[in-house]
Amino acid sequence: MSKSGKFISFEGIDGAGKSTHINWIKDWLKQKNINVLVVREPGSTMLGESLRGLLLEQTMCPLTETLLMFSARHELVEKIIKPNLAQGIWIVSDRFVDASYAYQGGGRNISIEILNWLKQKTVGEAMPNLTFLFSASIDTAEKRRNNQERLSNKNPDRFEKENNEFFNKVQKAYLQCQAQDPYRIININSEKTLEEIRDELAKSLEKLL
Ligand code: TYD
Repeated sequence: MSKSGKFISFEGIDGAGKSTHINWIKDWLKQKNINVLVVREPGSTMLGESLRGLLLEQTMCPLTETLLMFSARHELVEKIIKPNLAQGIWIVSDRFVDASYAYQGGGRNISIEILNWLKQKTVGEAMPNLTFLFSASIDTAEKRRNNQERLSNKNPDRFEKENNEFFNKVQKAYLQCQAQDPYRIININSEKTLEEIRDELAKSLEKLL
């Protein structure tokens, strides 16, 4: 019998509201006696966290940004995701490769050919079993980003500083990913109530058990 764990990713534009649900899913899985590891992209390896610092703060060319995102991802896949899945541990990732199709493809106009090639070389078969795409209107997401900024007293990073035209393109590209892979990517309307969202998450998770 295969011991392999399952791989779940969370996606959505900044302010779409995915983060609140990641902890809930972790607890939900733990209650089912499932060993789970939560990671984030870019990041979660020593090198990946250093690259995250650069990616969120330094001005850089779109292709440089893309290559660094995929470099951080390859480290995460090889050093953390594959070995843990092989041990039967589940992975919950705050963003994964769809984010590159959305932000670097949709937002920065990096071609699908480049993204497909990088995905094949750096991720290969290590794709999520299930992806939750959190969607909110561009206005709601902007309000949430502004609220978070006020509450955390943190300056917005390079992506959070982008305008609504950028986020519109990112959102559209995310929806294209979903249309191409509707069985893996589940669209969650994050403007619904917490309870409604948790019900939807639980229904999809049950199918993976
Ligand atoms: P995010 O996940 O929003 O973290 P936090 O909740 O701490 O702000 O930040 C990561 C940013 O990186 C986010 O704005 C999207 C961006 N990003 C890309 O542009 N491409 C990618 O492939 C990934 C993984 C993230």
